[in-house]
Amino acid sequence: MIVGIPKEIAANEKRVSCTPNEVKRIKGLGYDVLIEAGAGVSAGFADQDYADAGAEVAQNAASLWDRSDIVCKIRPPEMHSEMDCHESTLIRDSKMLISAYEPALREEMTAQIAEAGGTVLALDAIPRISRAQKMDILSSMANIAGYRAVLEAGNHFGRFFTGQITAAGKIAPAKVLVIGAGVAGLSAIGTAVSLGAIVRAFDTRPEVKDQIESMNAEFLDLEFEEEGEGTGGYAKVMSEAFIEAEMALFAEQAKDVDIIITTALIPGRPAPKLITTEMVHSMRPGSVIVDLAAEQGGNCELTVPNEAVTDHGVTIIGYTDLTSRMAHQASVLFAANIFHLLSDLTPGKDGNLVLDIEDDIVRGSTVVKQGETLWPPPPIETSVAPPKSTSAPSESQLVVETTPRNRAVSTLIGMGVAGILLIAMGSVAPASFMMHFTVFVLACFIGWQVIWNVTPALHTPLMSVTNAISGIILIGAMLQIDASSQLAVWLAIVAVTIASINVAGGFLVTQRMLKMFRKE
Ligand code: NAI
Repeated sequence: MIVGIPKEIAANEKRVSCTPNEVKRIKGLGYDVLIEAGAGVSAGFADQDYADAGAEVAQNAASLWDRSDIVCKIRPPEMHSEMDCHESTLIRDSKMLISAYEPALREEMTAQIAEAGGTVLALDAIPRISRAQKMDILSSMANIAGYRAVLEAGNHFGRFFTGQITAAGKIAPAKVLVIGAGVAGLSAIGTAVSLGAIVRAFDTRPEVKDQIESMNAEFLDLEFEEEGEGTGGYAKVMSEAFIEAEMALFAEQAKDVDIIITTALIPGRPAPKLITTEMVHSMRPGSVIVDLAAEQGGNCELTVPNEAVTDHGVTIIGYTDLTSRMAHQASVLFAANIFHLLSDLTPGKDGNLVLDIEDDIVRGSTVVKQGETLWPPPPIETSVAPPKSTSAPSESQLVVETTPRNRAVSTLIGMGVAGILLIAMGSVAPASFMMHFTVFVLACFIGWQVIWNVTPALHTPLMSVTNAISGIILIGAMLQIDASSQLAVWLAIVAVTIASINVAGGFLVTQRMLKMFRKE
């Protein structure tokens, strides 16, 4: 099968959906790669780089679309002036399109492609489950957008981000407010913090507080009780009262901060208007607002999509092409996302793409499969937030559930039985055995209590640390290595071997985990 990479035709789109490096990897899956001449030039990849990586260069768009079995694009299909036709009309007779597609907005186009027998995989509809993270274009692009938003703000902001004490005087650090701490928001927070700014952030989902604080930013608390977590790992639409309360918070902040970066959005909804004209006017002249939600209407009342406007000395940036402004980096990540999807869809690594509709990722992203419309997919459970049960417990749940009082009674009975067994054993066993046995039982009890109460998220570090200290077993086994019994010697040898592996492995894993939290 031939994977085709056309040149993007949208205005100002500089990205390309495949890089020379990914050409090699896609060829490793058994596909041939065809790229339109000049497709990667704006992102910094020459035709020769692709040819060197093993791709064939098609001289024009018509030949590329004609020869490709699978066309991988960045943007959804649109009118192609050079070919004088709409790209969607070229997806027919088992040809497949893999691109961002926004299926909810393209019902008519979907019906037309279905009628022509085409197949469409929407990259933006890949479900946000852990297994699909490596193919999630929304996350990889939002990461870049968040980073770039801070750079754009810096470009218009006439001061340092970091505070300085110079011979000429003291310079206060810039104060940055980030609204919405999803992928783009967290990326903006990380970038602004690393530039030395004082960063504050707010999100309707209180569980992001830890993430914000772990990046050395301040989470702004709102005295308002309302759960912000929706389904599928996204936020839910908040009540009017909540929006009012958060806007009062932003009104206070606007007077104090120098830069506001807004990313607040609930997918499929217009962006909530959170920054009013009045708030903009209350900011100091020279301040900057970067509105990442500009494409969906903007979080700021004064945002003009694709433009940077100035009002009362405050610059409001509404660029919707932040990723394209970092075309090289964005293309590298986008291409990697596409490679991972192709890799998952090519189990035989033989250049044959298999669409297994039973697979959650395939089901979620397949809009049309060879003429059959499959949009919308059934909702799937994501690993981001366990659903809360609002229904009453079933009868079987009621039977197994134990009250604290019942639990106390069963613990007492258990202890009584254990006590009787110990007394019975003590009356026949030698005193030395009883001493060791008591220590053993106590060690089991304390070990159980300690580990049982540890948060599951900490089990891996705990295991690695306990492995690292299993030297006690090592010493015990070494003491037995010259025992008179052959069995004891062999058991000691086995114990020394296993405990040594445990100790070495424990130190290794602990070391690797510490490295994850260390700045290079
Ligand atoms: P996301 O869904 O991961 O994050 C959005 C965050 O906004 C969520 O954490 C949500 O809880 C929060 N939020 C929703 N309503 C809120 C409210 N009323 N108050 C405070 N927080 C609220 O989305 P992601 O991927 O981080 O993208 C963010 C925005 O950036 C989107 O609008 C996206 O379209 C845009 N974007 C813009 C680009 C550009 O070039 N301008 C490029 C890529 C993304």
